Amino acid sequence: MKVLIAYSSKTGNTRQLAEALHLALPNADLCPVANAPNPAHYDLIFAGFWVEAENANTDTVAFLKKLGGKPVALFATLGAYPDSQHAADSLTAAANEIPDGNVVDRFICQGAIDPDMIGWMEQLPADADNAPTESRRQLWKDAETHPDAADLQAVTDWALAVLEKQA
Ligand SMILES: Cc1cc2nc3c(=O)[nH]c(=O)nc-3n(C[C@H](O)[C@H](O)[C@H](O)COP(=O)(O)O)c2cc1C
Repeated sequence: MKVLIAYSSKTGNTRQLAEALHLALPNADLCPVANAPNPAHYDLIFAGFWVEAENANTDTVAFLKKLGGKPVALFATLGAYPDSQHAADSLTAAANEIPDGNVVDRFICQGAIDPDMIGWMEQLPADADNAPTESRRQLWKDAETHPDAADLQAVTDWALAVLEKQA
């Protein structure tokens, strides 16, 4: 089975997941979505993104649009908690970007938020979306240590289970 791991990562969190997947699946091809080979040549595609505005980030959306009909396993990082509705909705939005999509499984975990973005949110007026509140500051702090060793183990276990199901 030919497997592609294609990902996008602005600050390195999603790249860490992609590299953990590659360690577990060394025969897979690993590359950023911007340089991804023709997906037609693969039997299974792990597509990794960071959440941007409750969807996959823009580069990955362009890549997902090319994956119609292919078995795709989505993996992602986000600032919010992975068991939140926002996380589930972000994965669904990404899955819906694939025309005639065949998403076989999904994985998401927290990823540290770019300090520049936190600085920007700290300046927002109190009535703005994402304005700093006690619970948001706690969320940003909780994200700081992710992905951690447990996340990398979890994504590895997940990928091996996905592969076994598809084989
Ligand atoms: C422009 C921008 C938009 C973001 N939008 C969201 C969002 O809608 N929801 C969320 O939970 N995290 C959001 N984040 C946080 C990132 O998804 C998160 O930090 C992710 O782990 C970054 O991954 P990377 O290091 O692979 O780039 C955003 C970050 C940036 C820079």
